[in-house]
Amino acid sequence: MDRISQIGDVAEIMRDYVANKQTFLTEETMRVPTRTYTDPDQWKAEMELVFRRVPLILAFTAELPNPGDYKAMDAAGLPVLINRDKEGVVRAFLNVCSHRGAPVASEGHGNCARFTCKYHGWTYGQDGKLLGISEASKFGEVRKGEMGLRELPVQEAAGMIFVCLTPNAPIDIGAYYRGFLEDFEALDFGKWTYMGSRVIEGANWKIAFDGYLEGYHFASLHPETIFPRTPSNCMHFEAFGPHIRIGFPHHKIADALAGVPRAEWGTQENNGFDFVRIMFPNVSAFIAPEITQVAQLSPGPTPGQNRTVLNYLRREPIKDEADRANVEAAMNFFRDVTYTEDYLIGLEIQKGLETGAHDDLVFGRNERGNQYFHEWLNWYLQDDRDLPEPVL
Ligand code: FES
Repeated sequence: MDRISQIGDVAEIMRDYVANKQTFLTEETMRVPTRTYTDPDQWKAEMELVFRRVPLILAFTAELPNPGDYKAMDAAGLPVLINRDKEGVVRAFLNVCSHRGAPVASEGHGNCARFTCKYHGWTYGQDGKLLGISEASKFGEVRKGEMGLRELPVQEAAGMIFVCLTPNAPIDIGAYYRGFLEDFEALDFGKWTYMGSRVIEGANWKIAFDGYLEGYHFASLHPETIFPRTPSNCMHFEAFGPHIRIGFPHHKIADALAGVPRAEWGTQENNGFDFVRIMFPNVSAFIAPEITQVAQLSPGPTPGQNRTVLNYLRREPIKDEADRANVEAAMNFFRDVTYTEDYLIGLEIQKGLETGAHDDLVFGRNERGNQYFHEWLNWYLQDDRDLPEPVL
């Protein structure tokens, strides 16, 4: 089925959910051990078997639109440098100088033809090759050709830049995304403009991520921000391998769609319904025309911490200074709501789970997105590709 027809069918399902006060339901509840969120061994296994293995979304095309643009960042605890060379090709490296390990670019964005390590001034090209050694005649023999930056597997598609954090690992985002990238291509995501980012910190990355996977909490936790537009506990889930498109109908979905021919309902995202797109393991994108928020969650240095980068993009470029001021205010607003309404309770949950009060947590039949995420996480942690994959 084509994308527009599929979304049109989902819109109809969601319209009926709202009319009948229903939601997507699966067969069973699911129990998840509490230690999943607190155990250092689990944290290590997630880092090794998930975050170092799967392609992670580390940047957007719109962040590095021009030749020479680069982004240096922390990615799940590793210093990473992503750049676009003068031919437009994107590369990724561990941001670690081959002399004595300093970063060759400071965290943030910039544009340059070559990278100069701030410790002793060695220089590297956009292809990561070592170009120059300061006072080389006094340094002694080195094999320059073997002393480039360590490259990481990278692919760019659908407006996103995917990196695998293990050098020489295979990367195949087409196989990994199972058709989900076509959804972003249809949105023309690669042509959007990057507005900026905000960083927040919170509890275990899965406690935070669980909050992006259901709308069961909207009435109680977001009575004045989300609930006025979107009913609580009314969701639809579609799976693309481990990735999920979560549909959230508006209270007024029936009115919004009433004047639109049925064949065009699939074009009405943000008019009567929204989608949150979940890219396993750690990205949640809420697409909205005014401003789109893409949250990238990374496990922190301990099981009880995560670091979340909230990225903001928009279809339209910035028009003028007033527009820029409005965008900055909107980014601050979304950051504050996400932190105060979702991340603070996450910290309380972390504290609660560490008491050992309960051996397990339970996800309801209505919380299928959470169940599916944990099923896929467990599938990766078992590290056996012959095991049957979870199905929605
Ligand atoms: Fe980079 Fe010395 S550590 S030049």
